[in-house]
Amino acid sequence: MTQAVQVGALTLKNPVLTASGCFGYGLEYDDFYDVATLGGICTKGLSLKPRLGNAPERICETPAGMLNAIGLANVGVEAFCTEKLPKLRARGVTVIANIFASSVEDFVAIAERLNAETGVHAIELNISCPNVKEGGIEFGKDPRMSARVTEAVRRVTTIPLWVKMSPEAGDIAGVARACETAGADAITAINTIRGLSIDTEKQRARLANSTGGLSGPALRPIALRIVWELWDKVSIPVIGIGGIMCTRDAIEFMLAGATAVQVGTANFSDPSAAKRIADGIRSYCDGRGIAAKDLIGRARK
Ligand SMILES: Cc1cc2nc3c(=O)[nH]c(=O)nc-3n(C[C@H](O)[C@H](O)[C@H](O)COP(=O)(O)O)c2cc1C
Repeated sequence: MTQAVQVGALTLKNPVLTASGCFGYGLEYDDFYDVATLGGICTKGLSLKPRLGNAPERICETPAGMLNAIGLANVGVEAFCTEKLPKLRARGVTVIANIFASSVEDFVAIAERLNAETGVHAIELNISCPNVKEGGIEFGKDPRMSARVTEAVRRVTTIPLWVKMSPEAGDIAGVARACETAGADAITAINTIRGLSIDTEKQRARLANSTGGLSGPALRPIALRIVWELWDKVSIPVIGIGGIMCTRDAIEFMLAGATAVQVGTANFSDPSAAKRIADGIRSYCDGRGIAAKDLIGRARK
């Protein structure tokens, strides 16, 4: 049975992608397995200019997860297009370019640059990063601002557009609906939620930024609930992310209504996590004589 799933106009060969910021630019993982076998990879968030990100410490472990305040360190969209994308394209990797900016104009400029390339299969708008002072989550908390960014980017590119939700938006369904109306092809849910960890010996926050985004298993029930709630609030596909560590976790998201899933933090403890999960979904479906798409929303019926 086929593992392919449809996210708007884009067909993914299977429902498992890697999450932004947790898989570099994809080819770093080449020694572990052929990343072209995945449903897709989401790049580290790309900005208009290269960024160094926040000062260290930028990550720390927490019970059932981790905190990060990387601050969107990345090579910038130009270097991505000239140095990373050609290799991904040559390898046949399905590439989702995750992008970030602190103004609508910069979001548009990044999208225009990506639109000039072949081999970018979707753009994922990160309007939900909790670890930067400007932009990020401030866009994603407000339906009108989210719609403004989505609409402006939609105007300059024909590449499918995904918008990534923040669990900290008061009215997530309202934000998702506003993005759909503004032209989004899919909603990705969710980004991290802000947390804090304090070193009791040094008597100060473990992260230089003080707070950081909580990811990993601790996030999973929240993310699953949000996917469940978004399912009938939007008519575009929802892609589930948050604490997916194993096949069973991924299947939970699909049964709740996710068309596809993204694997983030799991890559840090097992670089082959996404492939293991994709293989696991295949076995689960084969054992039941169903296609991957038959899992979508099945727990609701
Ligand atoms: C170290 C790190 C860096 C991240 N960088 C980004 C990023 O650049 N853009 C983005 O949209 N999300 C970023 N995220 C959020 C993840 O893509 C994902 O939404 C979140 O971690 C929840 O999934 P997980 O529990 O499977 O990690 C990052 C997460 C981590 C842990």
